[in-house]
Amino acid sequence: MSFLSAALDRVKPSATIAVTDKARALKAAGRNVIGLGAGEPDFDTPANIKLAAIHAIEAGKTKYTDVGGIPELKEAIIAKFLRENGLTYKPNQVIVGTGGKQVLYNALMATINPGDEVIIPAPYWVSYPEMVALAGGESVPVVCTAERGFKLGAEDLEKAITPKTKWIILNSPSNPTGAAYTRAELKAITDVLVKHPHVWVMTDDMYEHLVYDDFAFTTPAQIEPKLYDRTLTVNGVSKAYCMTGWRIGYAGGPAQLIKAMATIQSQSTSNPSSISQWAAVEALNGPQDFIPVNNKVFKERRDLVVSMLNQATGIDCPRPEGAFYVYPSCAGTIGKTSPSGKVIENDEDFVTELLESEGVAVVHGSAFGLGPAFRISYATKTSDLEDACKRIQRFCGNLR
Ligand SMILES: Cc1ncc(COP(=O)(O)O)c(C=O)c1O
Repeated sequence: MSFLSAALDRVKPSATIAVTDKARALKAAGRNVIGLGAGEPDFDTPANIKLAAIHAIEAGKTKYTDVGGIPELKEAIIAKFLRENGLTYKPNQVIVGTGGKQVLYNALMATINPGDEVIIPAPYWVSYPEMVALAGGESVPVVCTAERGFKLGAEDLEKAITPKTKWIILNSPSNPTGAAYTRAELKAITDVLVKHPHVWVMTDDMYEHLVYDDFAFTTPAQIEPKLYDRTLTVNGVSKAYCMTGWRIGYAGGPAQLIKAMATIQSQSTSNPSSISQWAAVEALNGPQDFIPVNNKVFKERRDLVVSMLNQATGIDCPRPEGAFYVYPSCAGTIGKTSPSGKVIENDEDFVTELLESEGVAVVHGSAFGLGPAFRISYATKTSDLEDACKRIQRFCGNLR
């Protein structure tokens, strides 16, 4: 009998972390590698947020806090939901966790029974299916092709719903595609969900602020008040506030669900870092003016990468609405042979050869549930992005 839990047979390690590790190992061995695998802004945390954390340390705010978050942060979150999303929550409807990741995980752990199904539009963030599996549920991926803007249509959703469906996980703007739902597109989905009262909505709005070209962000409970009582709206400070390492995420939802999530948190990790919580209060209540400044840079990088990738032979790169990812198809390279003699049979071969021959680290699309494609994170220095795209063009041009 294995010493390890059978639950481990159900989960895969993160492909995105694997790529980052491989790129790091090549770099350590002296290779010139550009890593476009990691999903975090290259910008530093704004100074006022860092200062709030320093003040918290100096003021001795270094003890255990309420498991679900300090009242000041809950108030800041409540104000944020009202100000930006038109959603009203009471303190018992809000929870703070150690990153959005923990919030999502605890919600699944608190609700999934064996055999429960969770609808996940693909391409999806790698962690959703693995978290569902850890919680003992079944994920039901629904493929959303590039032709459909990587977005779930009402008919496909209707077909995927069964009596066992417990949740649908929506993520807009999306990791890995950057696709974001317009109000009309999201309304088509919420119209279907209204007809199926047993299905709950977990919306991962982590990239809310990272949208370009005047795109207007909306979230399901805002569009369809009838879903408010069965929607968990998840968000966090990692991406827009450049605070990935601080580990603060949060959610608003029905009090009973929030309480169940807090129970799980109380017996596993307890409160998120007290210092990070004070920093998050400042992030949410403080000046927001650096967000459009960062977004201008992200938008320029998106446009640069889309344009350069579309000049690479065999690559087709849609222009996404948000986040800091693009998700080009590499279908036009499949079946070709690299200069080293390797036949590119799938997107995993494509990314492996690209890393080995040109030192560019990207993540293969099949890890996100739709290939042949790959994900590029453009949250990295513009000069590196330009260099990486030139290398991709050269790599594709050398395939025969
Ligand atoms: C779609 C999505 N959701 C959630 C997270 C988790 O973010 P964090 O745990 O840093 O708040 C990430 C991070 O990569 C993400 O891409």
